Amino acid sequence: MASNPFRIGVPVTGEELADRETELGTILKEVLGGSRLFLISPRRYGKTSLLLESRARLQARKIPVAYVDLYQATSLAHFLDLFARAVLEAAEGTVEKAFRIAGEFLRALRPTMTVNAEGQPEWTLGFSQQQPDLLKLRDQILALPQRLAERKKGRLAVFIDEFQEVRALDGLALEKAMRAAFQQQPRVSYVFAGSKESLMWEMVRSRRSPFFRSGPTLSLGPIPSREFKIYLSNKFRESGMRIVPARLDDILTVGDEVPFNVQYLCHALWIVKGGTGDVSSQDISQALDYILASEGEYYTTLWDQLSLHQRRTARGLARSGGATPFTAAFLRKHDLGPSASVARSLGQLIKRDVLKKSRAGYHFADPFFKAWLLAKIP
Ligand SMILES: Nc1ncnc2c1ncn2[C@@H]1O[C@H](COP(=O)(O)OP(=O)(O)OP(=O)(O)O)[C@@H](O)[C@H]1O
Ligand SMILES: [Mg+2]
Repeated sequence: MASNPFRIGVPVTGEELADRETELGTILKEVLGGSRLFLISPRRYGKTSLLLESRARLQARKIPVAYVDLYQATSLAHFLDLFARAVLEAAEGTVEKAFRIAGEFLRALRPTMTVNAEGQPEWTLGFSQQQPDLLKLRDQILALPQRLAERKKGRLAVFIDEFQEVRALDGLALEKAMRAAFQQQPRVSYVFAGSKESLMWEMVRSRRSPFFRSGPTLSLGPIPSREFKIYLSNKFRESGMRIVPARLDDILTVGDEVPFNVQYLCHALWIVKGGTGDVSSQDISQALDYILASEGEYYTTLWDQLSLHQRRTARGLARSGGATPFTAAFLRKHDLGPSASVARSLGQLIKRDVLKKSRAGYHFADPFFKAWLLAKIP
């Protein structure tokens, strides 16, 4: 059986990436120009995909790129380990060379090499949170990109994904140390990507933040609908299915133009249709039901974790079709008490990634969660 042509849950690159040429052009120009670029978007808009595609394009131009995902880091020591290994491997090209140079450049440490279950070499720098000179080591590791680039007389780029997590790792201390280290690195470009938008904006716009105005910002919006529809209709056609433009519009509406949700809906359509035939409106609702059934357990858990007031706020928003949540009528209708309580619940719902805020108001970050709410919480 043919495999599902709609990829979900993994970053997409190359042929699998729809559009984003303008954003890729900006990232490449900024990286080649030596910037510290901040890439900001809500969750699931395709930041990681963009970073990985930019990395491939830069590597094709002989610029090595280190990629670090801060969601993987569980402590300051773990972050430093991930950062150092990514930078060493990018600059040196192979794990073996990186391992050798690590011993030379980070003398206080004892890197260890093992072989994993697949027979691939794996290594760590071999230090922990208990390391006595952790802060000194931190500064040595943060200085590493420039030292390695100098050694090669070349340039280096470092991409840090989910950058806002730096605050969860070590408060402002790590952020300050990074800012201090990175501003002395003329051979190194940085891209900091983040999905907690308000935190990311605060990091670059607040005078109290170490990275205040330290570089340009790029905010990632939806994929232009024309380009996304061409991409999707090609995929349907190549897989042996047919879809008219009006149904593609429906798909973008149901997925609220969030790239992940749109792809997920198409992925589910392909499954419910068995990969053949014309896509009808009924098929689209069936595909949505399929998704709500498979995500049901996750949504139930999410719902369980919300306070009663947050639940009333979310339910009210889902039902009001985007009305402003501070009007007296809204507060009364949904039994929400004073507007200060609503402001608090909205803030917490944003923090939990349930809602996102735009100039136009509050929206559900995951339009399928909204659909689930409407269907299951009458
Ligand atoms: N340009 C694109 N073309 C096609 N599909 C895309 C594109 N960008 C994102 N997607 C879809 O969205 C999914 C998530 O993409 P990606 O992981 O890059 O987003 P993200 O913003 O890093 O998400 P997260 O906030 O969860 O880290 C992909 O698996 C794919 O289905
Ligand atoms: Mg990501």
